[in-house]
Amino acid sequence: MREVSPELAESALIGSVLQGTYRVEDLIGTGGMAYVYKATHLRLGGDVAIKILFSNLARDETKRGRFLREARIQHQLNHPNIVRVQDIIKQGSLSGFVMEWCNGGTLLHMLQKAGGPLSMLQLSNLFPSMVDALGYAHQNDVIHRDLKPQNILLHVAGDSIQPKITDFGIAKTVGELGLTRTGEVMGTLEYASPEQLKDSKSVDIRSDIYSLGVLLYRMATGRLPFTGSPARLIKQVLHKEPPAPIEAPSSLHPLIMRCLEINPSDRYSSCHELRDAFFAAGDIRYSSDSLRVIIPTHIKTEDLFTDTGAGYKTEDFGGESEKQLDSSSCEIEELGSPTDPEPLKHFRASDTMEKRSSAQWWTSALLVGITLALVALLFLFYLRH
Ligand SMILES: Nc1ncnc2c1ncn2[C@@H]1O[C@H](COP(=O)(O)OP(=O)(O)OP(=O)(O)O)[C@@H](O)[C@H]1O
Ligand SMILES: [Mg+2]
Repeated sequence: MREVSPELAESALIGSVLQGTYRVEDLIGTGGMAYVYKATHLRLGGDVAIKILFSNLARDETKRGRFLREARIQHQLNHPNIVRVQDIIKQGSLSGFVMEWCNGGTLLHMLQKAGGPLSMLQLSNLFPSMVDALGYAHQNDVIHRDLKPQNILLHVAGDSIQPKITDFGIAKTVGELGLTRTGEVMGTLEYASPEQLKDSKSVDIRSDIYSLGVLLYRMATGRLPFTGSPARLIKQVLHKEPPAPIEAPSSLHPLIMRCLEINPSDRYSSCHELRDAFFAAGDIRYSSDSLRVIIPTHIKTEDLFTDTGAGYKTEDFGGESEKQLDSSSCEIEELGSPTDPEPLKHFRASDTMEKRSSAQWWTSALLVGITLALVALLFLFYLRH
């Protein structure tokens, strides 16, 4: 094993050991400002992801400072549906950070595989957790401002698939201004709110609510509300009501449209409100202290990924071996882990089923009783006459 020299180019990192701890295994992806590698934590033995800022950007003191500062913001967010930033890499000219490894690709991969709308089951397994994670960030005065399917990573663990939001890359701590240039449109156009397109510095949490609306629109219909050239897109976002999400379950239409209101004060005012509206629209049961959606016992977790028959395997993304997942039951269990903000509870799907079958038993017994009583009355009547 060799220690990396400060002069090594990004492509030459594979096989190197960063900070004596992380052995770089593979280049996983390239974004707008950084490379993402899969690496092994040599002391702990698990996989991690390492994001290394492009060298030309790393040479710019301001950009490097902002990149690392944003990594620190994400590090402070401690939520099961937010990608955990574990360490900062500063080695010679290299600047980057270490994250938990997500083995299921991105929401974009999933949408591309599905090739159309996701099912209500898939939506209800993913969307509330995303909303909850954002709500948690907002409570901690952090606005994401770059929500898009590429920034929603997926992690498959046992029988559950968890979305994990990442790249609070242009996140803004509420109240802190001045780190972005005036007039610079931050975020990806298709998911950016009208007010963000006008002035990215003056957005509040309702801008993230808008982006969540676009994400839900895309997940539920398989398409975006607005498309076209950047100029056409911006014009539509600023002035037009989006076309109705007709492919989506009808109960979700008002919810999606409310997220996409041009005027921020016409949208949901918090993620909490949005989450409640989603549960009400989807008729989804959840425990009072849990945001985990019930996966009915008969549904295999892999079905969540196969909507239109298109197979989705973890091996497609990052070389993980194919997982045969079988969720035979959803038991009550405390999920309190060091990374959980508070212990979550799995709700037991069979609980509601048990209640339902017990109610059905009593109804049947009552009907049999009434029938027997009627027969007895008729018999008595017959005997008397
Ligand atoms: N923690 C992680 N675990 C596993 N894979 C990851 C992780 N973070 C990123 N990736 C992979 O690396 C790819 C590139 O990520 P990156 O954030 O650099 O690009 P992007 O989101 O497409 O663009 P942007 O520069 O706008 O963020 C992702 O699409 C994803 O497949
Ligand atoms: Mg990204």
